[in-house]
Amino acid sequence: MVIKRGPRNPPKEVPMNFKHTLRINERRYTRRAEKNSRNSGVHGYISAMYIREDHPANDAETIIAIAIDLQKHGINTPRVTHRVSQLFATENAGADMHDVLLRLLNRPILNRQRVKFLLSAAARQLGKMHSLEYSHHNSHFRNFVVKGSKVSIIDFKYTKKGKVNWNDPDNIYKHFWLDYAFLKTEFKNIINEQHEMMEKTGKSVGDELTRVFNQHVDLPKFLEKVISRYPTTEQVKSDVFERIKRELSLNDY
Ligand SMILES: Nc1ncnc2c1ncn2[C@@H]1O[C@H](COP(=O)(O)OP(=O)(O)O)[C@@H](O)[C@H]1O
Ligand SMILES: [Mg+2]
Repeated sequence: MVIKRGPRNPPKEVPMNFKHTLRINERRYTRRAEKNSRNSGVHGYISAMYIREDHPANDAETIIAIAIDLQKHGINTPRVTHRVSQLFATENAGADMHDVLLRLLNRPILNRQRVKFLLSAAARQLGKMHSLEYSHHNSHFRNFVVKGSKVSIIDFKYTKKGKVNWNDPDNIYKHFWLDYAFLKTEFKNIINEQHEMMEKTGKSVGDELTRVFNQHVDLPKFLEKVISRYPTTEQVKSDVFERIKRELSLNDY
């Protein structure tokens, strides 16, 4: 395996167009250079890590160990196929769920079943991950990928594991609050992006599609599903859910 990288003495800040190319058996894998750009290629995907010294993120070894542990417990996460130092390649586990959802939500006829299915599948993966006491710490939908009926979770750069007291709603909330908060932002972003797309195509934001859309992109329902996987009593689950609703002001959501 030949490895070609960017600058030998990389700058402290990662430039947005920083690009890694990894050649494995004559195939070239290129890491996406910028957020939202599409250059994952047809042969697979590189999830190349670039670690800054001052960065608190996990290193490749930790990330791979987390992925293996999650796989062992039946959570969908792509297999790591190659690794060189801090760079590793993972099998292509499909399309970015953020993009998939937006595409679905902007079709003239909404495939409600599909949207519902994808959201519940993502919630199930995250709920299972939490049950193993991992907080993802970057749980937006660009860190979920979709292939057919399989939703996988990726990107464990910031993931943390720690003992959770499953009898204590306060402890549970504190352990996972960042994931809940990320999801709130993610749902808001999806709603805003969908509205922008509609405006561009001259549709009214108040129309039937938006109404149906908001009904499906339902954050409280998503979080309730995540919590439903937790290894604790129904009472504790309900207390955690109430706490989230209060802290993240989900009632006026
Ligand atoms: N195994 C994979 N299969 C399919 N797409 C992937 C895979 N790994 C990463 N991606 C895509 O590349 C994007 C960036 O990868 P990620 O590991 O999340 O790194 P970062 O968030 O640091 O850019 C993801 O949002 C996803 O769209
Ligand atoms: Mg990511």
